[in-house]
Amino acid sequence: MKIKFLLYCSLLFAGAALYTGCYYDKASLVYPNGSDCDTTGIQLSTDLNSIMQTSCFSCHSAANASSFGGGYNLENYNTVKSLATSGTLMSAITQDGNASPMPQGGSKLSDCNINKFSAWINSGTPNN
Ligand code: HEC
Repeated sequence: MKIKFLLYCSLLFAGAALYTGCYYDKASLVYPNGSDCDTTGIQLSTDLNSIMQTSCFSCHSAANASSFGGGYNLENYNTVKSLATSGTLMSAITQDGNASPMPQGGSKLSDCNINKFSAWINSGTPNN
């Protein structure tokens, strides 16, 4: 009887340890927006340009804008700034229906990358 009780207790303990272990490992599920998404000090020249290099410059670079990007050269700070301050840029990448959804023909940017654009816009669209 005593042995059974001890066995039961140790199973319970092991179960609890396993459960909490899994819980902490899956923080990304508990916080789906990514506690690991760093949106502090976002720079246009590094953070945002590297996202646009992957998803936008194939159409919106200086070289490609007139043929593929509707004339919008997103390598140009003033163009990015004016699209950002009018709200068009965020509407395009969040695909909220108020602008053409971007990237055209591609899959939507990750929440983390979208948050980086909005953090940069909220910091006043600096040329940084
Ligand atoms: C395959 C080509 C292509 C890619 C890739 C692409 N775009 Fe575009 N984009 C266009 C074209 C063409 C237009 C102009 C026609 C239109 O508005 O649909 C446009 C228009 C826009 C506009 C203006 C939308 C409006 O309604 O006025 C924004 C902002 C924009 N793009 C941002 C982006 C961003 C940011 C990315 C990357 C995340 C991106 N685009 C990727 C082709 C592309």
